[in-house]
Amino acid sequence: MALRIADSVYWVGAVDWNLRFCGSYTTPLGTSYNAYLLVDRKTVLVDTVKGTHTMEMVGRIKSVVDPAKIDYFIVNHAELDHAGAFKEVLRIAPNAEIICSDRGRDSLKGHFDFDRELTIVKTGDELNIGKRNLVFIEARMLHWPDNMMTYIKEDHILFSNDPFGQHLATSQRFVDELDEKFVMDHAARYYAQIVMPYSQLVLKKLEEVKSLNVPIDMICPAHGLIWRKNPEKILSAYERWAKGEAEDRAVIYFDTMWGSTDLMAREIAKGLTDSGVPVTVYNTRTSEWSLMARDLLLSKIVLVGSATLNMTMMPSVAGILAFFKSLRPPPKIASAFGSFGWGGGAVRDIISTLKEMKFNVIEPGLQFKWVPREDQLRECYEFGKQIAQKI
Ligand code: FEO
Repeated sequence: MALRIADSVYWVGAVDWNLRFCGSYTTPLGTSYNAYLLVDRKTVLVDTVKGTHTMEMVGRIKSVVDPAKIDYFIVNHAELDHAGAFKEVLRIAPNAEIICSDRGRDSLKGHFDFDRELTIVKTGDELNIGKRNLVFIEARMLHWPDNMMTYIKEDHILFSNDPFGQHLATSQRFVDELDEKFVMDHAARYYAQIVMPYSQLVLKKLEEVKSLNVPIDMICPAHGLIWRKNPEKILSAYERWAKGEAEDRAVIYFDTMWGSTDLMAREIAKGLTDSGVPVTVYNTRTSEWSLMARDLLLSKIVLVGSATLNMTMMPSVAGILAFFKSLRPPPKIASAFGSFGWGGGAVRDIISTLKEMKFNVIEPGLQFKWVPREDQLRECYEFGKQIAQKI
């Protein structure tokens, strides 16, 4: 069944409980694909679902209206988790006018073979659907060039597509039905993995939305829960994250070969903790990526450790650093540590990568040959205390 979420607005999406990767992003708690149906004098479908969930969406639409009566089909973003049912909608809604952004035309044509006309809209364009008027707001690079948002002028509802979402599979549809801290934690993981590279554009878009004078009472993202009460919370969180405001806490990422770098990580963590700086420690080989990305976003201090393998860092550390670099995080206080046997190289290469990420790197980091002795572990502890003072 469709779920009525506001007067004449229905959620007709689908929940994907067992998805563990959405594209390339980790989704440990699954996700939802949120499609919306607006029923006014005209009937409007906003976005669709991943192809695997097409019939679930179609069933929900049919519980409200005959799909053949859909007048407008708005494609806010053509990535396949939202446009996966595009061809099926074309089939069941043969008279629907398809609306997308200029770049949406490119991605729709690139993904699907079809010969229907597209109506291209840009920021500020309006569409009357009866008692309501829709306004389109382009959101280029949030997070694809084709992204746009759709806003109901009279109801102050924003269909934001990817921005403001969370990868969460739940039976609830609204943030206020769950613990807000839990939802915000997942919104942070989502921001870190999907939106962080475009933080400067987030700030510009937030300014632009303010200047358009569009009050927002509800934000309906394309993933996760709907911000029905107090959407200001997620808007201000995006502003903080986009500005690079982090918390007085540290995160340590490491991989180890025979346990020496693990010992170092734990002593450094103790030094930070005893200095009053909360810390989270992740073994990069076994830890979940959305958690590690969240703490990259939220921490002022980032420490990376690795044993040396083949004169460089361990593959899992190289992998997570490559991912982090692509996320273009704001500047952090950073350093490196690790143990080595015959010859070093890991700490040198980590430092070099942290510098490429424009972090404020404390050099030369900390490294020991073979298994760290007791006095060297004390040095690790002091290293943690010394870095804690940098906050
Ligand atoms: Fe949720 Fe860019 O797709």
